[in-house]
Amino acid sequence: MNFLKKYINKYWKLFCAGVSCLTIEALCDLMQPTIMSKIIDIGVKKRAIIYVERFGILMLLITAVGAIAAVSRNIIASTVSQKFGAELREDLFVKIQSFSFDNINNFEGATLVTRLTNDVTQVQNFANGLMRIFVKAPIVCIGSIIMAVHLNYHMAGVLGITIPMAGILIVLNMKIGFPLFMKVQRSLDKVNSVMREYLTGVRVVKAFNRFNYESERFEKANNELVSVSTTAMKVMSVFSPGISLFVNLGITAVLWIGGNWVSHGKMQVGQIIAFTNYMTQILFSLMMISNVFTMFVRAKASTERIGEVFALENTMKFNEVSNDTSEVFGRVDFENVSFSYEGKNGQAVIKNVSFTCLPGETIGIIGSTGSGKTSLVSLIPRFYDGTSGTIKVDGIDVKDISLKNLREKIAVVPQKNVLFTGTIAENIKWGKENASFEEVIQAAKISEAHDFISTFPEKYDTMLGQGGVNLSGGQKQRVSIARALIKNPEILILDDCTSAVDMVTEAKIRKSLKDYSKRLTSIIIGQRITSVMTADKIIVLDNGEIAGLGKHDELMKECSIYQDIFYSQIGKEGI
Ligand code: CTP
Ligand code: MG
Repeated sequence: MNFLKKYINKYWKLFCAGVSCLTIEALCDLMQPTIMSKIIDIGVKKRAIIYVERFGILMLLITAVGAIAAVSRNIIASTVSQKFGAELREDLFVKIQSFSFDNINNFEGATLVTRLTNDVTQVQNFANGLMRIFVKAPIVCIGSIIMAVHLNYHMAGVLGITIPMAGILIVLNMKIGFPLFMKVQRSLDKVNSVMREYLTGVRVVKAFNRFNYESERFEKANNELVSVSTTAMKVMSVFSPGISLFVNLGITAVLWIGGNWVSHGKMQVGQIIAFTNYMTQILFSLMMISNVFTMFVRAKASTERIGEVFALENTMKFNEVSNDTSEVFGRVDFENVSFSYEGKNGQAVIKNVSFTCLPGETIGIIGSTGSGKTSLVSLIPRFYDGTSGTIKVDGIDVKDISLKNLREKIAVVPQKNVLFTGTIAENIKWGKENASFEEVIQAAKISEAHDFISTFPEKYDTMLGQGGVNLSGGQKQRVSIARALIKNPEILILDDCTSAVDMVTEAKIRKSLKDYSKRLTSIIIGQRITSVMTADKIIVLDNGEIAGLGKHDELMKECSIYQDIFYSQIGKEGI
């Protein structure tokens, strides 16, 4: 819960102001029945009109003060809780952004979404409620008891029985409720995660006609949520009527006993009315307290879940960076690098890899699927850290370069392209926010995207749906390449990103890339031998190890795996 400290420090003054208003409001509420009893028992009974007038005006004044306090606390409560909620969400967002890939793999995507939305809302509502009603409930409850006893202490015995009974119910409510609401929250997570997975994979689901299977999965999660929520609600719903029953029994007792006492002169009519009034106030505040607990329980569960995100330490270690500028541009060195997704003890997917990529060179990486190509290049921008060995960019260990600087130098076109909702121009500009339109066009021309974009009626202003759904696979790849190019990087990593582009277009892209910048270092991963064979150096990866390294001609002589790939794709007779 440590993360809450920051917000408490910031908002405690306003919070106290809100609670003060609430206290004033509660005190005003508390005085009303007593004044009323005075009006009835003294003013009305003895027909003292001045007394009625005087207390009437007092009552009005108190109501006015109460109303002003209520308006102020409403404004304060809304302002504080909204600001607090927004800041909490923002901080969480920033925290999640700072996570390494490892960290993110720790959480399922859906739970991060529910934590950011639903959980923050729960905590925000609780903070709001705290300033709106929650503090008022105990004040009114205790105040009503004091006022009632003060009004007629003979009658206090009735309170002595009803209140402890209601108190027991509230404690039970809490004890039983907490675990139930934790369960509700977890089920909600499950529903969200099934829904999210379905929505991201909706094409596959339809293609495989697995709608029923997915429906069942959803239904199962949904039913579970319904069942836990219903149980929770059922259990909770017993308590409010229970409390109500006890208090109403108390009121009946007051009326019955009070009625008798009035005839003996031990109590007055106004007092009975005031007393029952206080009892109703007690009833309401007790109900409120039990609602508070439901909300508290939910907020507590949510706070814990948010706390888990804040508490997660970034798995990536950062060295103190003193001077990470270099005279070299676009050089990459791998020195005996090994890497595993599960840390030091896991199975290595990159094994003892060493190579050097000189400025301006084009390096091709080829190898069967699962041989570690994507894993290898994801170590360069430090998406993951190697388990041993050193990776240097521009001659400096990547761990000694600030992440911002490092990633500024490198542009990656990932294997699975990701586009965002927005126009094509916006998507390309994503690589460089302040890019001019000319730069956008230039990047699109190099990646062979300009021509097809020009055929769209709205050209660069064509809106893309989420993930670029309205583009073909190859078109998406070319927009992704343009987005990387506009960044004007030193090192460009293309991870199998021309797989959906025809060979002729691919050759064109390669050529324009070469012409575009002599200084640009490119690392091109390809499944097709034609994608890599013109490279200055080709790395043949096999099961995480380098099986061959050299130019096409050299590899054709020395590397059997490379030969196999060549012959299987091109045939014995050559191109
Ligand atoms: N792997 C893993 N955890 C990940 C990603 C990959 O354990 N988050 C494993 C895979 O099971 C695989 C190995 O790492 O055995 C190498 O994966 P990758 O580098 O993605 O292989 P590529 O050569 O890129 O395969 P492809 O051509 O299919 O993209
Ligand atoms: Mg890959």
